[in-house]
Amino acid sequence: MGEVVNDQGGLPMLLGVMGDPIIHSKSPVMHGAALAACGLDGKYVPLHVQASHLKEAVQGIRALGFRGVNVTVPHKVEVMKYLDLLDDGAKYIGAVNTIVNDNGVLTGYNTDGIGYIRSLQEEVVPHLSGKSVLVLGSGGAARGIIYALLQENPGKVIVANRTQQKALDLAAEWAHLGNIYGCAMNNVLEYTKDIDIVINTTSVGMFPNVEEMPIDPNLLPDGIVVSDLIYNPLKTELLRHAELKGCQIHNGLGMFLYQGAYAFEYWTGRSAPIDVMRTAVLGSMN
Ligand code: ATR
Repeated sequence: MGEVVNDQGGLPMLLGVMGDPIIHSKSPVMHGAALAACGLDGKYVPLHVQASHLKEAVQGIRALGFRGVNVTVPHKVEVMKYLDLLDDGAKYIGAVNTIVNDNGVLTGYNTDGIGYIRSLQEEVVPHLSGKSVLVLGSGGAARGIIYALLQENPGKVIVANRTQQKALDLAAEWAHLGNIYGCAMNNVLEYTKDIDIVINTTSVGMFPNVEEMPIDPNLLPDGIVVSDLIYNPLKTELLRHAELKGCQIHNGLGMFLYQGAYAFEYWTGRSAPIDVMRTAVLGSMN
């Protein structure tokens, strides 16, 4: 990766995250630590942007000379129409979480799915090729993950959703990208026998509803990999049960770190200091 041109006339590189609400975002602390560790003169700020001001806020990226921003809830879909270019992944997924400003040209990327897959590969399953994967949920988070997963040539992807039709629709939409099938969440037993990895993309089990689980953990085969996008709590009830069954577990903290790492690399052209970022995020959690 080469050095990125960021001609701000000697001013710091400006970065931020747009969302509503934004006060609890861990991105400023994570990117602030990364910039400092790399010796870069930059500022990463939380930007409280309401939906009615999204268009002006995006124009403001150019006007104020921001090098880039992250985009979070509730703007990831809506923001797409205000950008100049979209990366292929963002187009397929239908959502953008990272904007890069190249001399006034704004390009939208989605680093959530690739960030998640990089975390899964670095932390638990280096090679996803040929693996059978059960994905729970078929919303925005699932789309990012499944798209990135399909690039890794898995053997089979089963999408299970409470509303079955949405899983069937997604499987049909992306049938040309790989072996992907949809089913109802209450019908997963049929598919769990030969599964290698289960990924929960729903918010079931997230704080404060920490007792809830998206599926009956008795359905999980012993010894597989079970991953949950949730990182509050770091060990969901699903992961706790999976661990008791001898499964390898993986939580959503890595997804958050690596989606940020990709964004940092796009903006700065430097390798993200992932350990520094992890320490900063963990240090900011209660
Ligand atoms: P996100 O961007 O976090 O993925 P989303 O696009 O609203 O949010 O998608 C939420 C996903 O979690 C959906 O797959 C949803 O299932 P439905 O399509 O049936 O609504 C799933 N989900 C949310 N709450 C759930 C619950 N209590 N039980 C099972 N699935 C749930």
